Amino acid sequence: MSIVKNIKLADHGKQKIEWVKNFMPALTRIGEELAETQAFAGLKIGMSIHMEAKTAYLATILRNAGAEVFATGCNPLSTQDDVASALATEKNIEVYAIHDVEEATYWGHINAVLDHHPDLIIDDGGDLMESYLKRPEAEHWHIIGGCEETTTGIHRLKQLEHKGKLPFPMVDVNDANCKHLFDNRYGTGQSAWDAIMHNTNVLVAGKVVVVAGYGWCGRGIAMRAKGMGAKVIVCEVNPVKALEAIMDGYKVMPMAKAAELADFIITATGCKDVVDYSKFYKMRNNVFLANAGHFNVEINLEQLAQMSKSVSGRRDNITGYQLENGRTINVLAEGRLVNLASGNGHPAEIMDMSFSLQALGLEYLLNHRDELEKKVYDVPKDIDDYVAWVKLEALDAEIDYLTPDQLAYLSND
Ligand code: NAI
Repeated sequence: MSIVKNIKLADHGKQKIEWVKNFMPALTRIGEELAETQAFAGLKIGMSIHMEAKTAYLATILRNAGAEVFATGCNPLSTQDDVASALATEKNIEVYAIHDVEEATYWGHINAVLDHHPDLIIDDGGDLMESYLKRPEAEHWHIIGGCEETTTGIHRLKQLEHKGKLPFPMVDVNDANCKHLFDNRYGTGQSAWDAIMHNTNVLVAGKVVVVAGYGWCGRGIAMRAKGMGAKVIVCEVNPVKALEAIMDGYKVMPMAKAAELADFIITATGCKDVVDYSKFYKMRNNVFLANAGHFNVEINLEQLAQMSKSVSGRRDNITGYQLENGRTINVLAEGRLVNLASGNGHPAEIMDMSFSLQALGLEYLLNHRDELEKKVYDVPKDIDDYVAWVKLEALDAEIDYLTPDQLAYLSND
């Protein structure tokens, strides 16, 4: 039995799911193809991924292709109860997700998905895999494999693979071109700012925006800040990325210096303690801190709370930390990924590609189950390209084709 079932909420959630369908044509088409062959007939799919409208649509696509789906979130604050309720009313889909539950309940929901012994999994950040590994009886479940959605989850999987502890094959959806080039960059770039602006209701133009991490997410966040007229500073630990940021037109400096100048600090590194006690005292009054990385470890809020004489809610999704020096530091969404914990996540057009890759990644695992080892696999190029072709077609965009002569020239034949 699903945990969430509330009809009034569900109606609201259904509306949100119906809305995103309009903007996810690639997933719709791929879903029709998978439904026609009943690609997942008789299989159980367990998902732990941000429980919002686009995810719900993916769950129905997998169900329509024959699967029984068991879904939970991957972050207690990103679950939208109306969407979870709507999804829970669907046939052959069970939902275990409630917004803002305590840590123990969050893990309980992930384990409830595992209790169904899924054949295939979708993970976002690696918490489903972590729970699986904590259950010794799980090795008898014969999971065929799974797909991982995000950079942090891939880091965790690669560590497991390195130690020889990966229990089944996993497909790295994050590093497919049709994922990180669009989702991490343009998706996070837009949705992080959408959430920050909606929650703060302050101006970005003319402000100093500090972006920590110039990876795919950081590039998107910096690009959009620049576009809105902010003065952008990038903090990096990788010399090549730092150079790239300089040539993209940004200032680069260590966080210790940037923290003194910032009106906004946005972390997107996948690392911990990027903003910690040594920086908090240097910050200007009413600075805004937000994190777009997967886990709430990038801003050390424990230290900030210890240094504060008082802590108070200032607006929805904004907590004020009052320091002894009289300044207030505003933290958005409790330092959890700001675009999902206090916003609607990426635009549907972006998740169209990410979730097309998820669906096709699961089909790939199924079709190659006999030859795949306990490794992390890239999404095959033909699948990545297929998603791009379907998306281009949906956008009514045409491109050039190489002539046989050009092909021969390029391949040196
Ligand atoms: P990436 O690996 O492309 O970039 C991370 C960058 O941070 C790298 O350039 C690295 O050198 C830098 N970095 C690492 N530690 C640092 C530190 N202490 N100080 C300054 N820079 C540091 O990773 P990507 O794809 O940009 O993802 C970043 C995080 O965002 C991950 O946790 C990922 O899972 C998450 N993510 C969040 C999304 C969202 O919707 N909010 C969407 C996609 C990814």
